[in-house]
Amino acid sequence: MSVQWFPGHMHLTRQAIAERVKSIDVVIEMLDARLPGSSANPLLTELTSGRPTLKVLNKQDMADPERTALWLAHYNAQPQTRAIALDASHTAPAKALMAACGELAPLRGGMVKPLRILICGIPNVGKSTLINALMGKRSAKTGDEAGVTRHEQRIALADDVYLFDTPGMLWPRIVVPESGFNLAASGAVGRNAYDDQAVALELLTRLQSHYAALLEARYALGWSAQQWQDTPDDAALEAIARKRGAIASGGHVNWQKAAELLIADFRSQHLGRITLESPEEFGRWLAAGLKADAQRQAQKKERPKAPRRKR
Ligand code: G4P
Repeated sequence: MSVQWFPGHMHLTRQAIAERVKSIDVVIEMLDARLPGSSANPLLTELTSGRPTLKVLNKQDMADPERTALWLAHYNAQPQTRAIALDASHTAPAKALMAACGELAPLRGGMVKPLRILICGIPNVGKSTLINALMGKRSAKTGDEAGVTRHEQRIALADDVYLFDTPGMLWPRIVVPESGFNLAASGAVGRNAYDDQAVALELLTRLQSHYAALLEARYALGWSAQQWQDTPDDAALEAIARKRGAIASGGHVNWQKAAELLIADFRSQHLGRITLESPEEFGRWLAAGLKADAQRQAQKKERPKAPRRKR
């Protein structure tokens, strides 16, 4: 099972970004600090390639600080890239953001050459929350200007800083299956795009390998870290279900309820601060995903086309 979705209306957003990026100095790419690699939109990377980029690892309050530090170091080592971690409790994030953007485009600023920033991110990553915090008391949305479509809004952050906001965008095809599961677990994709039980089992696998102590703290099964790591995911989910009363008539496990419970505990942070992937791990998934995808595309090309039906 893999996670897929069909974002038809997102073609327009893609066009708006492709058009706007031509006159942009810095791209702010908002990522979910719990899944930085998986929440990075490959389509966006393609559209904005060559532009200085500020990676904002948002929701850092929900993520594992050790892994956040690894991701920041990973991104800060890339050319034309800066990375900072934020969360909604930063009521005045503008200073840190502007400083980072200024470093990326040192020649911009002032009324003659205002700094033009494009902000992008997947749905639910916290873009509106950040923009509201950036705007403070300003309410300078100027979406009805020429060239500003309803797929983009221009916000004046200062007299010489413009922020172009785009709607949250996903991408048409998931090449890295692990990313699909992580996005589903985080709540970034609609419920009808995935199967709760498959997502819960994948989530549990990640938690078992890195966060056994947090699982034990939450579910108190009396298991050692080794036991959490060694138990197959379905057996671990069954043990959680029994402990938490996710039982159907006849004493059978209610798998759906158990899956929902685990996913809800992750999303609500009842399990603690968790990051589902490290840069190294994500790098491996990406390499394997790209390889498998290239093979699929090659097979598709080789397959004889079905004959056209006569009208
Ligand atoms: P979007 O524009 O990118 O789609 O995302 P939005 O700002 O609407 O944020 C999506 C959800 O994430 C909201 O929660 C918001 O409060 C939460 N959020 C945003 N930034 C942070 C952060 O840094 N840390 C944490 N913990 N949460 C954050 P919601 O439950 O959908 O709405 P609400 O009732 O909290 O407003």
